[in-house]
Amino acid sequence: MIEHTALVVGGTSGIGLATARLLQQRGATVHVVGRTERKLDPELIPHWADGGDPAQIAAVVAKAGPIDWLVVSLSGGEGAGPIAGLDVATLRRAFDAKFWAHLTTVRAALPHLTPTGSITLIGAISARAAMPGTAGLAAINGAVEALVKPLAAELAPIRVNGVSPGLVDTPWWSGFPAEARAAYFAQMAERLPTRRVATAEDVAEVVALAATNPNLTATVIEADGGARLAALV
Ligand SMILES: NC(=O)c1ccc[n+]([C@@H]2O[C@H](COP(=O)([O-])OP(=O)(O)OC[C@H]3O[C@@H](n4cnc5c(N)ncnc54)[C@H](OP(=O)(O)O)[C@@H]3O)[C@@H](O)[C@H]2O)c1
Repeated sequence: MIEHTALVVGGTSGIGLATARLLQQRGATVHVVGRTERKLDPELIPHWADGGDPAQIAAVVAKAGPIDWLVVSLSGGEGAGPIAGLDVATLRRAFDAKFWAHLTTVRAALPHLTPTGSITLIGAISARAAMPGTAGLAAINGAVEALVKPLAAELAPIRVNGVSPGLVDTPWWSGFPAEARAAYFAQMAERLPTRRVATAEDVAEVVALAATNPNLTATVIEADGGARLAALV
């Protein structure tokens, strides 16, 4: 059996952690990266670094490499809201936290990726829908997803794909009061064609497919429960 090594940056929570667990269950050696130390599955190899810091992430990648499957699932928490109330400084921070951190991680990983390897970026369906209050998020995630095709052409034979999730029940939402979050999820579930909010494991299956399938490149998979079709206003 061929041994594979995965590096999941943003792999200590949510979609990244679910992906790391899935790839590990399927036999890969899996390194995960987050900024905050926390207790993880003993089978995962943890690293504590900021994916937006070139020196920190380069040191982790060098330690973990050679890498077959790079997954970038780190997130920012800012950038949502009506554009009139969103100041530019907030939006710049939000770009730093997601877009620039994705790009910094990818650049750091390049020298350590195997030629048959892959890069999978996580965007968001806000980039592909038209939901009021998401212009900032759409711009950030649109920028992440726009990297996929040119990088797939430029870095071939390394494969480059994206996954574009909709609403996913992960710790990302833990900043919202539990009651308000539950009400929001229930309301959204009614409107989604799938009539449910996705789990991190749902999306992880798609991320793992993008990372491992040798025939997939230059693709952004919409793993959104049909959110782009729904009126989520
Ligand atoms: N949940 C949703 O509804 C949803 C919807 C659409 C798209 N997405 C996207 O899916 C991706 C994963 O989100 P999630 O819901 O799984 O979020 P999450 O549960 O908050 O997990 C994010 C992970 O990224 C790590 N992280 C954040 N910034 C980092 C950085 N600069 N360097 C290294 N690690 C970093 C976090 O750990 P530390 O904070 O300790 O670093 C954590 O492990 C994100 O790109 C998000 O925008 C999520």
